[in-house]
Amino acid sequence: MTEVALVPSPEAGAALAAGLIAETLAQRADAVLGVATGSTPLGVWAQLRDQGVDVASTPAFALDEYVGLRTGHPESYRSVLEREYAAPLGVDPTLLRVPGDDGGPLATAGARFEAAITRAGGIDLQILGIGRTGHIGFNEPGSSLASRTRVKALTEQTRSDNARFFDHAGQVPTHCLTQGLGTILQARTLVLLAFGSAKSNAVTRAVEGPLSSSCPGSVIQLHPHVIVIVDEEAGASLEYRDYYRFAWEHRSLDSIQAPA
Ligand code: F6R
Repeated sequence: MTEVALVPSPEAGAALAAGLIAETLAQRADAVLGVATGSTPLGVWAQLRDQGVDVASTPAFALDEYVGLRTGHPESYRSVLEREYAAPLGVDPTLLRVPGDDGGPLATAGARFEAAITRAGGIDLQILGIGRTGHIGFNEPGSSLASRTRVKALTEQTRSDNARFFDHAGQVPTHCLTQGLGTILQARTLVLLAFGSAKSNAVTRAVEGPLSSSCPGSVIQLHPHVIVIVDEEAGASLEYRDYYRFAWEHRSLDSIQAPA
């Protein structure tokens, strides 16, 4: 089932996501995390630090990586996650795995990455953002709903959205390695965050639209345990937002009251 938490601000959403990570670690000391890059999860890492959540010895698998950037490029997702996630939270960089970071051939990088996830026991909680094309990971429109980790071409929309991290748009790689939608579905819990009006169309299509590879994020509808955290702007066009709000406020069985 998909639960939608409408939060008053990105900070409140990040605090909620950090709390969900803390709960997962409390339930399972050997939990494995799935981490995302981009702007959206940065607040979650800050909240983990502020809430004193100890992820230092928790293995973490990234969703995706650009293809074609030199090793150590500051905008490679390996570098971004080392800088924004691992270093501030004291995570041993060897516990962080990013697709293609083992130096082996690109053609088999996806299979090696999947094998590493399996060896780690699978991902317990996967943090997700969503792109304006509806992508999760870098699964752009047309991605098979059963896809596995592989090389994908990025859309022009995504390259232009990500140009802000580079000196100019032409520097944004054209291709990436990304966990597939089938891979993402295997995580035990998905936590998708989206903030701001630019995400509202993608959020509505993912949560309420038809299940379709035209909106790869809609694959979350197949997952039994998804929490979508949105601020009022990102959730503005959700048809059932009042229902989601009511259901979230009453998610504990203790809060159910008999009608008067
Ligand atoms: C990043 C990733 C992407 C981003 C998405 C949103 O690892 O997989 O799906 O989550 O492009 O990016 P931001 O958060 O920068 O808006």
